[in-house]
Parts: sequence; C-alpha cells; structure tokens
Amino acid sequence: MKKDLISNDVQLGPEGKLIHLLGLEGLSKNHLTHILDIADSLIDDGNLKKSKALDDMSVANLFFEPSTRTRNTFEIAGKRTSANIINVDLANSATKKNESLLDTMQTLKAMQIDMFVIRHKQNGLPHHVAENIQGVSILNAGDGINAHPTQALLDMLTIRQHKHGFENLSVAIVGDIVHSRVAHSDIQALKTLGTIDIRLIAPEGLQYGSERCDSVKCFDDIQAGLEDCDVVMVLRLQKERMLEADIPNEQEYFDNYGLTAERMALAKPDAIVMHPGPINRGVEIDSSVADGDQSVILQQVTNGIAVRMAVMEILAGKS
Ligand code: CP
Repeated sequence: MKKDLISNDVQLGPEGKLIHLLGLEGLSKNHLTHILDIADSLIDDGNLKKSKALDDMSVANLFFEPSTRTRNTFEIAGKRTSANIINVDLANSATKKNESLLDTMQTLKAMQIDMFVIRHKQNGLPHHVAENIQGVSILNAGDGINAHPTQALLDMLTIRQHKHGFENLSVAIVGDIVHSRVAHSDIQALKTLGTIDIRLIAPEGLQYGSERCDSVKCFDDIQAGLEDCDVVMVLRLQKERMLEADIPNEQEYFDNYGLTAERMALAKPDAIVMHPGPINRGVEIDSSVADGDQSVILQQVTNGIAVRMAVMEILAGKS
C-alpha cells in the first residue's frame, strides 16, 4: 500500500471514541492528552501500578519484525492490566503453510482474542486488518516506514515529564528521518500538541524531500540544527529499509552526524537526549551521551509500559 493512501479513518468510532490505534493523524490534542494523562495516572513516584481493567480480555502480539522494547512492553502492559496476553509464534504458525494473514487473524478471533498488536514491514498492514476484521481492536506496533504511534506517545509522555508542555519547545530529530516511522509519528504528535519549532537534521538521502519540509525546519548542518534545542531525539540508520548502495559509511556518518558531547553542548544546558532504540553506539550516538546525565533513553522504555497500558485500557472502554 502506498504511504500517501493510508488512512486512519477507521480508528475512530461514534463520538470520536478510539476503537483502534493505527496512527496519530486524525487524533486531536484532547485524544493525545487523555492518553498521556491516563499513562501518568498509572505511574506512582516512578513505579508502575497494576489494574484489573482488562481482566476479561485477551490480547495477541503478532510481531512479523524483530522487537525488544515494543513487544515486551506490550506483554508487560497486558499483564499489568490483567489481560490474558499471548505472543503468537509466527515462525511456527500456519502463516508458514500459506494461510493468509486475514485467515490467521479470523482464526485467532475465533479463539476470542479481543485486541491484536501488530508489527509488520508493510506500510498500512494494520489498517488493512482493521478495515477487514470486525469486532476487535488493532494496535499498530510499527508498520514499515509509516507509523509507530505508541512510540511517539511514550516519547511525548517523557518530554512532558521533563518539560511540562510542548508549545515553547525546540525539538531536534537527528538521523535517518526518511526511513523512520518513529520520526513520522513524533512529528505528528508534536504538531498536534502545539510544538512549532521542529527541526529535522539529516544528510541528503536520509532527509525528507522539500514537500515534507514545509511545516518543519530541515537542516543538513547538525551544529546549526542543535543550537538552543530543548529536546534532541536521535535515530539509528535503518539499514533494513535501505538499498545496499544507499547505506552510508558508518565512520563517516558518525563524524558528520553522530551525537557527541561536544555537539550536545550546542543545545540548551537542560536539554534531554532521547532515542527510540535500539541504539548503535559509535554510529549515531556516542556512549558518553547515551549514558550521560541528559539521557532519558531508559525512562522512555519504562514509559512505554504506562502508555501501552493506557492505550489498551482506552480501547477496552475502561478509561
Ligand atoms: N523503539 C522500538 O520500536 O524498539 P523495538 O524495535 O525494540 O521494539
């Protein structure tokens, strides 16, 4: 499916109620703020609470691409909301015997699964499922280069915890923008929440084209892009989505775009460093920055549990 033909329309039901989470386009500031508020209410002094909200529900994780953070935090979030959660073993499933994805989903639905968490390399695959399987909720855990909505929501929660708002922030996203579903969802979330100064820093080839740089500021000079930023988000080189010939030389990339302590000093002194993970040390970020005082990378991981608990509770109609 072409990226520009993907619509999130089916994710909202009557009166704007969220019935799937496919992407952040089409969601209002109130929708996003509600999710962040519920996630915040599930954290008590840094510790995650438990709830009984999904104790009558079953959730299936279907990860067709590798994942450490998203898959495991969805599983933990499901358990902490008392859901029955299963990780479907796709490598040994009937998809290997040419069963279509929709037939697999219908089969799992017949096992009384209420929610499906789907990661897939194809843009729009979760949307296709949501349009064709009725009576279940679909959560997009990352589709191709299109969207990663729960990642953006946990990023917004982390920013809000440190900066207490979005309107007056300068946010820089550094790295492989063009192949990044995270960048796409983060930009959408920041715009919806009122951030005006969004800077995308990347070399030509990893940067958006001019049409997508319309409402953001695009830089190829990292020094200029980082100046006085409040938030610096770093992205890895997503080689799995590049042609062999397009993969940059890692040393050269680090020399020109790696986030080092020296470059980070150009941002505001209280700026935070974020990364969706997995991080590649010495390629897009130096260890001294990834592990430094300004890094909130592991806090993002923990916030992923709260955000995914919140989204599942909302989809279940329990929050
Ligand atoms: N941020 C993220 O999506 O990481 P995983 O691929 O480990 O889930």
